[in-house]
Amino acid sequence: MTPPAPRRESALARRMTVKDLATARRDRRPITMVTAYDWPTGRLADEAGVDCVLVGDSVAMVVAGRDSTIPATLDQMIYHGEIVCRAVKRAFVVVDLPFPLQHLGVRTAIESCARLLKETGCQAVKLEGTAGQADVIAGLVGAGIPVMGHVGLRPQAVHQLGGYRMQRDGEQLMADALAAAEAGACAVVLECIPREAAAAITAAIGVPTIGIGAGPDCDGQVLVMHDLVGLSADRVPRFVRPYADVKTTIGAAVARWRHDVERRDFPGPAETLG
Ligand code: KIV
Repeated sequence: MTPPAPRRESALARRMTVKDLATARRDRRPITMVTAYDWPTGRLADEAGVDCVLVGDSVAMVVAGRDSTIPATLDQMIYHGEIVCRAVKRAFVVVDLPFPLQHLGVRTAIESCARLLKETGCQAVKLEGTAGQADVIAGLVGAGIPVMGHVGLRPQAVHQLGGYRMQRDGEQLMADALAAAEAGACAVVLECIPREAAAAITAAIGVPTIGIGAGPDCDGQVLVMHDLVGLSADRVPRFVRPYADVKTTIGAAVARWRHDVERRDFPGPAETLG
């Protein structure tokens, strides 16, 4: 196998673009994308050198504690997107189009995505869909709006799919990914699909694939920030590798502070003004 090309320093010094994503795929350099919903995590992700920051509609679950992404609204995505875009200087920022705006026709999709672009400052929008949404992707791309597709497990369709489960219909997955790419998507997220299906799609479509629970053969990988750092309230999926235990760190810090206040050890002389 050809060794991956080294990371180009110039790509670190300026804003990532759709062209850089295509170049990364061509050079077989893995693309990294992580979610962020606020200023501190957007800034930390950017400083950590990721290629893309995704303001996902997963905000409804990991930040707002809802049991699906369906309740996320356009105004909420704009609120979080604008904050993250101010924090992120270098990475390519993508904001999710929330349910059901990609199903209400090309005009509604363009109006909604134009608001995302104008009011947040993001570089692209992501929308979940099957081949049935190809005309919407084509309409958005025709309007000059970069689009990232999202196929496989589509969390906005969780009730139709019967839960958060692996999607195994290889022919359907290939048709959905090809339709998104042919409609002009700049990349396609593949969520929770078998490794073989992700590898076949990655070989077949002309744009980068970014996997989550789709194995190692995609052009890039994406994770939800709260899963990656160990801050998620619920059990994380098996495809996540937790790189920190922030939940324990925060819980222990707050418990220590409460203990110190209760025994009148805080504030001490160092923390007392005047
Ligand atoms: O909303 C989100 O966080 C996502 C990722 C899981 C890809 O769509």
